[in-house]
Amino acid sequence: MPARFDFQGRKVVLTGAARGIGLELTRLLVPRGARIVAVGRGDGALQALRDEFPGKVDTRAANLSQARDIADLVDWMAVDHRDCSALINNAAVMNHGMLTGMSDTRLQDIATEIATNLTAPLKLAAAMLPLLSARGSALIANVTTGLAIAPKRDAAVYCATKAGLRSFTRSLRDQCRHAGLPIQVSEVVMTLVDTTLSSDAPRKYPPGRAASDMLRGLENGLDEVWIEKTRLLRIVHRLSPNLAYRIMRGR
Ligand SMILES: NC(=O)c1ccc[n+]([C@@H]2O[C@H](COP(=O)([O-])OP(=O)(O)OC[C@H]3O[C@@H](n4cnc5c(N)ncnc54)[C@H](OP(=O)(O)O)[C@@H]3O)[C@@H](O)[C@H]2O)c1
Repeated sequence: MPARFDFQGRKVVLTGAARGIGLELTRLLVPRGARIVAVGRGDGALQALRDEFPGKVDTRAANLSQARDIADLVDWMAVDHRDCSALINNAAVMNHGMLTGMSDTRLQDIATEIATNLTAPLKLAAAMLPLLSARGSALIANVTTGLAIAPKRDAAVYCATKAGLRSFTRSLRDQCRHAGLPIQVSEVVMTLVDTTLSSDAPRKYPPGRAASDMLRGLENGLDEVWIEKTRLLRIVHRLSPNLAYRIMRGR
């Protein structure tokens, strides 16, 4: 049985906290007794979070596609938030389009997508390991997607970043166990959720339920938290990777 992770009394660094699934996570974590260090780009959205949860949320405006912002965030954490014991890498961006018809201007979009979705969570996890290791128990949770298992055609970069994050999460978990560190390293394999990130599709999962399922899995100490339909994808992929690829590629 994996050890349970209790959010009560925790300080949680949450990227992408002001919108979508991250906002729902904030709304569920605060009543659980957690204090949130909310990271996002928009000062207005972060201010709205502080207004919604007076005294429960600290905020930091940071563009995670920028190396300087990540370095500043890490320095600020080391001084002002040494007592944090959980990092949830939730922020991401998803660009759609076919590389086959790409113009030069799209190269910057590729760099931004890789920096936000892959470089930033890797850097934050690595930089925060010393802080988290100093706690009696701690958590690093990385949000990926079913598209990390089987990619779709028109979001090649996004899928590649999430597959990379999935691989990193597994290695980091192994490293923490090997080093005997008291850090639970979990991957949350997210389903299609009704936020601005996902494409127009019928029957998208409500963000509040996605956040709730995610927290339950993390609290249960799971290495991998499979949300809604991704559980079926996992089985299909085990039985027939090619069938899973065929199902997902046109999504
Ligand atoms: N929605 C889905 O169908 C779906 C499916 C599978 C996986 N996921 C994953 O679930 C997670 C949450 O996505 P969501 O659906 O909640 O998306 P969302 O509503 O679009 O929210 C994305 C969040 O990421 C933050 N973000 C994006 N670029 C950023 C940057 N450069 N710097 C700092 N923050 C940045 C945004 O913050 P600001 O704009 O406030 O700065 C926002 O809070 C992501 O990891 C996503 O890949 C979502």
